[in-house]
Amino acid sequence: MQEKLSHLRTEVESAIKSVKSSADLEVIQNKYFSRKGEIALMMQELGKLSPEEKPKAGQLLNETKKHLEALFEEKSQKIRADGMAAELEKEWVDVTAPGIPYKAGHVHPISQVQYEVEEIFSSMGFSIEDGPEVESEYYNFESLNIPASHPARDMQDTFFVDKEGDSELGRLVLRTQTSPVQMRTMQTKGAPLRIIVPGRVFRNEATDASHDATFYQVEGLLIDENISLAHLKGVMQEFLSKLFKKNVLVRFRPGYFPFVEPGLEMDFACLICNQKGCRVCKQSGWVEFMGAGMVHPNVLKAGKIDSKKYQGWAFGFGLTRLVMMKYGITDIRLLFGADTRFLNQF
Ligand code: PHE
Repeated sequence: MQEKLSHLRTEVESAIKSVKSSADLEVIQNKYFSRKGEIALMMQELGKLSPEEKPKAGQLLNETKKHLEALFEEKSQKIRADGMAAELEKEWVDVTAPGIPYKAGHVHPISQVQYEVEEIFSSMGFSIEDGPEVESEYYNFESLNIPASHPARDMQDTFFVDKEGDSELGRLVLRTQTSPVQMRTMQTKGAPLRIIVPGRVFRNEATDASHDATFYQVEGLLIDENISLAHLKGVMQEFLSKLFKKNVLVRFRPGYFPFVEPGLEMDFACLICNQKGCRVCKQSGWVEFMGAGMVHPNVLKAGKIDSKKYQGWAFGFGLTRLVMMKYGITDIRLLFGADTRFLNQF
């Protein structure tokens, strides 16, 4: 018995020593420590011994059992702790590592400049108005004193919409200018009025570096008593100087638009070459910027405004062209091409 016990003791000791996983532990648990394990068998054998032998062998068996159980428990704890450490190792995060950059989108350069324009005009007391992109012939042309014979209505210039509109207002068109919003606002708000209308317009044009069938305009309208073109010059000079953050010179030239009388074109001094002459200003020192003029009495009448009491001016410039000038973009197609390598520069 004694010999058997010491044999079992070394066997179990070395088995516990070589344990590497909780699966190994289980094998040992079953083989030696379970109810039918080898230690339990020894207990049974103990019963078969003679009364003289029993006490000594019993004591030895007990000691051995305790010793092996303690050894087993110690190993189990170690294996458990190692397992947890391995888990932790797996879950470990380096909180000092730099984060993964988050790709946030940003506002398109045209909208960026549009917001700047809105802010500057708002600071001068103008409100921002909006209108439909699908217009009637009446609002886009007729009410603005553009007769049916005007070339702008030609199939080459205007997109007509293949859908019946209100028959009194004529066919439906994609608006070719933001000017119809002048009329809509005059009719709904009356005089005095101080508005700008940024918006998308459409013309049936072939696309090239400086033309696209879709582009953005900003319309302006100021109606009040005792208004002259001097106010327009002051407002535009202030606007451009704020936008470009330096003093900008402007000039008026005669121009024709059916809805204004007198009509004019406004240029500003070339900011690229400081009027020395360059490609952008075509060596003239001036950049063509917009059409404008005193609102035609027929237009005021259509807008239900008393032309004896009130007068005012309107202007319209290309927001898309302004953005191109501001950033030195030479091809309009880049702005609408959705190429993020280009757009991410803004
Ligand atoms: N609507 C004109 C255009 O698209 C611009 C303009 C607006 C001219 C207002 C005069 C007054 O060309």
